[in-house]
Amino acid sequence: MTPHNEAKPGDYAETVLLPGDPLRAKWIAETFLDNPKQVNAVRNCLGFSGSWKGQPISVQATGMGQPSTAIYVNELLEVYKVKKLIRVGTCGGLNTRVKVRDLVIAMTAATDSSMNNSFAPYTYAPFADYGLLSAAVELSKQRGYNHHVASVVSSDIFYVPDGAKSYGALPDHGVLAVEMEASAIYTLAARFGAKALAICTMTDCLITGDQIDAGQRQTSLKDMVELALDTAIAS
Ligand code: HPA
Repeated sequence: MTPHNEAKPGDYAETVLLPGDPLRAKWIAETFLDNPKQVNAVRNCLGFSGSWKGQPISVQATGMGQPSTAIYVNELLEVYKVKKLIRVGTCGGLNTRVKVRDLVIAMTAATDSSMNNSFAPYTYAPFADYGLLSAAVELSKQRGYNHHVASVVSSDIFYVPDGAKSYGALPDHGVLAVEMEASAIYTLAARFGAKALAICTMTDCLITGDQIDAGQRQTSLKDMVELALDTAIAS
């Protein structure tokens, strides 16, 4: 048990889905998992364990942003010995090639967070697990989803002053979307010898202003969660 998590050792499966929103974690557990059991409610940052197609799977909310995410992920890896992490989230588009509802499967995640300062004078390049990445891409192709295997930026700032321009030269260097958690997840997974992947639905384009509507949000979310669950058991 930790200051942020009341689960006992063994309460989490080796594979954990990571949404930001605690109520989304609850929805995922109740909608998709067999025999879901709540394992954490400290600060209402809900965690659940159950199974998907016979395989044990957990889901733990991270809250928003890398400082919050890093607390839960560090503890999942260090205390609960989790081996596979799949973030299921949303992202903002930084390139008009990415349309609202498209999936962005993050191969790498740049960041403005100070969390990686310990790597100086190097610039660390946080990366997804190749097995998870290729399984997600294969399943996405089979299902006919519009997806982009791309770099994202995990930003510490949601309310940027200048739209896509706020991200400097990143969009000109293949960074297609902005979210707020992947870089910390990838870095910690590497540190603890675990596997990680972030799959995000693009919900708002910072260039065109296009936004997902409520109906599309629910369908997209369902498709993305099923993709993440099948990815988890495929690789
Ligand atoms: N910024 C950061 N994270 C996001 C955004 C955004 O514009 N949209 C969805 N997640």
